[in-house]
Amino acid sequence: MRVDIVTLFPEMFDQILGGSIVGKARKKGFLQVCCHRLRDFSPDLRKRVDDTVFGGGKGMLLGAEPFARCIDTLMEHLGWMPRILYMSPRGRVFDQAMAKSLAAEKGLLLLCGHYEGIDQRLLDEYRVEEVSTGDYVLTGGELPAMILTDAVSRMLPGVLSEEACFVEESHYSGLLEYPQYTRPELWRGRQVPEVLLSGHHENIRKWRRRESLKITRLNRPDLWEKLPLNAEDERLLLE
Ligand code: ADE
Repeated sequence: MRVDIVTLFPEMFDQILGGSIVGKARKKGFLQVCCHRLRDFSPDLRKRVDDTVFGGGKGMLLGAEPFARCIDTLMEHLGWMPRILYMSPRGRVFDQAMAKSLAAEKGLLLLCGHYEGIDQRLLDEYRVEEVSTGDYVLTGGELPAMILTDAVSRMLPGVLSEEACFVEESHYSGLLEYPQYTRPELWRGRQVPEVLLSGHHENIRKWRRRESLKITRLNRPDLWEKLPLNAEDERLLLE
């Protein structure tokens, strides 16, 4: 998969998308990430990309033309049209299901806003989809673009060593993940739950399922309400 990112601050992405699992995915060729400096596409001699807002109001808005020039140049270079997403607190809220579906795309083009955002006409012209990482406002779209790229890349086939890595983790099946433990068995007087040391696979599976159910009910009543409980789940919760 190819991810292109248009930003005022391309250097922000080097560390986060250059190391660890995403960095390895790039080195192995599962993922290609290209950052484009918005200022390089400004038609202005002084390379300005922002201006005041029509109708009044505080702050500056990023103009449509630098983004349009960047998108057109990229599409000409690629010969195909990636799915264009604008990172914005006004967008559809990003979740694991969206990460999974975006991982099936050939390419994504992520637009990062700053200041008051981007001229609406750019979003209309290119039928851009708005995506939010949550109900809060950040200073720019760079962190959300990194979050989306990270979550999507780990869903690409081959990036994680085994599918088991993510079928059990939080949000994959609508449940949050059960607690996990490593050595030592006793730490500051706290013992690893006995069942996990028993080697009894069926009891371990049931214990993990019960813990997942309990933590989801406690921390995320919104997910809990949507969860289709089976007969075994009802029994585990009663025990
Ligand atoms: N830009 C600023 N805040 C944002 C958010 N919550 N999600 C996506 N992009 C943003």
